[in-house]
Amino acid sequence: MITDESIQLVKDTMRVEDIVGDYVNLRRRGQNMLGLCPFHGEKTPSFNVNPSRNIYKCFGCGEAGDAIKFLMTLEQMTYPDAIRKIAAKYNIKLEEKEVSQEVREERQEKESLILVNEFAQQWFEDQLYNTDEGKSIGLSYFKSRGFRREVMEKFGLGFAPATRNGLYTAATSAGYKEQQLQQLGLVRNKKDFFWDRVMFTIHNLSGKPIAFAGRILKKEVKAPKYVNSPESEIYYKSEVLYGLYQARRMVRQKDNVYMVEGYTDVISLHQNGIENVVATSGTSLTAGQARLVKRQTENVTLLYDGDKAGIKAALRGVDVLLIEGLNVRVVILPDGEDPDSYMQQVGSTAFEEYLTKKRRDFLFFKADLLLEEAGDDVAARSDAIRSSIATLALVEDPLKRAGYLQQFTGRLGLEESLLINLVNQAVADRRAEARREQERETRRREREAGRGATAKLPPVRPSKKAPPPPEEDRWAGMEEPGFQDTPPPPTTVPQETSYTPSWEGMEEDGWAGMQEPEFSNEGDVDIPPPFLEGKVPELPSLDPVAEALQNRGHAYQERELVKVLIVHGAKLFDADNNVTVAAFITQNIRDVLDDFDSKKDLELVNRVADYLAQHGTPPTPDWFLKHPEENVRKTAMDATMTAYSMSPKWKEKNVYLRQKEPEENQVLITRQFLHNFRMKKLVRKQKICLDRIEHFSKTGDDQKVRQLMGVLQKVSEVIKNMATISGTVVIKK
Ligand code: CTP
Ligand code: MN
Repeated sequence: MITDESIQLVKDTMRVEDIVGDYVNLRRRGQNMLGLCPFHGEKTPSFNVNPSRNIYKCFGCGEAGDAIKFLMTLEQMTYPDAIRKIAAKYNIKLEEKEVSQEVREERQEKESLILVNEFAQQWFEDQLYNTDEGKSIGLSYFKSRGFRREVMEKFGLGFAPATRNGLYTAATSAGYKEQQLQQLGLVRNKKDFFWDRVMFTIHNLSGKPIAFAGRILKKEVKAPKYVNSPESEIYYKSEVLYGLYQARRMVRQKDNVYMVEGYTDVISLHQNGIENVVATSGTSLTAGQARLVKRQTENVTLLYDGDKAGIKAALRGVDVLLIEGLNVRVVILPDGEDPDSYMQQVGSTAFEEYLTKKRRDFLFFKADLLLEEAGDDVAARSDAIRSSIATLALVEDPLKRAGYLQQFTGRLGLEESLLINLVNQAVADRRAEARREQERETRRREREAGRGATAKLPPVRPSKKAPPPPEEDRWAGMEEPGFQDTPPPPTTVPQETSYTPSWEGMEEDGWAGMQEPEFSNEGDVDIPPPFLEGKVPELPSLDPVAEALQNRGHAYQERELVKVLIVHGAKLFDADNNVTVAAFITQNIRDVLDDFDSKKDLELVNRVADYLAQHGTPPTPDWFLKHPEENVRKTAMDATMTAYSMSPKWKEKNVYLRQKEPEENQVLITRQFLHNFRMKKLVRKQKICLDRIEHFSKTGDDQKVRQLMGVLQKVSEVIKNMATISGTVVIKK
């Protein structure tokens, strides 16, 4: 038989959405999740899961209960079998009634460690309230900070005197084992670990003391301000939030939790009527802590100091909260104040007023802050936008995300379609990464299970969503925009790489550009309808995925070509001959310039060519980014931003633009890209020729047919040549 404790542990751990989620596709709908009921056939979802209450209910058939009930009903399981299945999912080791000696000892060990800590807490309190040293140093200190007795007791404040063995002696003579005192970090080498400090007790959710923190009082001593208990069998730092035990009731009631950094901030706010407050203890938040909060509320308000460090801290570790689906807001206190000092200064009414007035949604706070910091620096602005988008992509709820997106458009000054693409890409990247992480985690667990090593491990909840890699890492391996301050020296294009068109005598039909490669859009088109309309389809969509799927129009490729010109143009393509990427590209697309679908992009290509002709060097990315025309700036911003975010799919599809190949990167990119670009244009030209030949054959215009046959032959020849010199655009006569 499974012990009551084990059943309780399973019940405390199980999340109804996890269990139901294995059977039902759930979508978030406000606080709840919604899916198709597995108990009765339905086409429109009426099956509701309420994560905060940890229950489900179908409004169609009335079936309702918790995760255990769900399994019992759906899988026809017995109660213990359902418990076992859930326990297995969360890697919980169940204790059976006839427990092994080993397991019983382990449990007793934990209980007795708590008992040791309870003794220690009482001893620290005793020192604080009942000894001269404690009263004159510790108690007077707390009083000077305005802490009242009942709050001090509620939080288990205490005092560790300057003697180095007070606790050690008291505890061992009371019969507590030295080894346990050591394990808890209370004692080291028969000496007290905490001495000459005021003490803070850290509780678990049942209010048991699991660790301590001691604050130094003497300013001149060169010791750390706080020392903390090490992790132990009863204390996993990443699964604890200071003050949550005391705050829990109010957090639920207010449906919001304030997060501050310091222990003293918690206590100060608490005794001034803001009881829904916990401390992060100055470290980054963990997924475990985020889930701990999520069980109480979905709303987090970060409350940070008004200095630089405080603001930086506000940005740190928030990702984990967003990933868990929490709504995050930020309040920055006036400069130089922390929650405790500000509360003392203005009192609770003004303090709460400040909170309501100044709290801001985290996503907007971050975007505005980064953009403000970036100022006019274009590269920094682009970084800021990218970072904000990465954060926005963490918001899982599509409705919420859409709401943010709308507001972001104005703030970031980007076109909505671009923003949507960037966010979608960031979301896709993150999902892929989460999947990989999950697979790694599964393999790791399987290996451990194989070795039978799980028995000794504490119950660890499988991470439903993998934590994202740190922001820097998320962009690792992706192409840097090639910002260069000084363009490379003037270049001349070497003969062997330049292209001379090999066809002649077809100017009449409007293919003049092919014959006379010039950087102009001249050569009047003399083609009868319907081909004229067919020739220049303007495709407004720049969504790369949609483009690829439809595979029609060249707007996407043209935009990519422009991006290559912007990002890589000023780099060297051929170092030996001093040929830049821009020079190489503009030389080698002359024969297809007339086939551009997007006038905008053609215009930009022409500008680059003009610039080259005038200056002998290509423009740098900065030239585009700081261009007086907004259209150019926007395209440049788009180019430098998207150069970072390549989805694996595109890598497979031979879009080399964003592939990181140190050194010869731009060479490879340019070669491959140009090849593909020209090929695509020429193949389309070929097809148009064929269509027209068919058309004029029907109308009996033999002269036009002959002319077109000539074009077709030439185009086909070029294609054939290109195919044989695979991967390059060096075309021989
Ligand atoms: N902290 C820590 N170790 C340190 C410094 C800080 O663990 N050496 C953690 C503590 O949890 C502390 C929090 O970071 O509460 C915030 O630090 P700080 O603002 O310096 O301390 P306060 O708690 O605000 O203490 P006080 O108000 O007394 O300065
Ligand atoms: Mn403080």
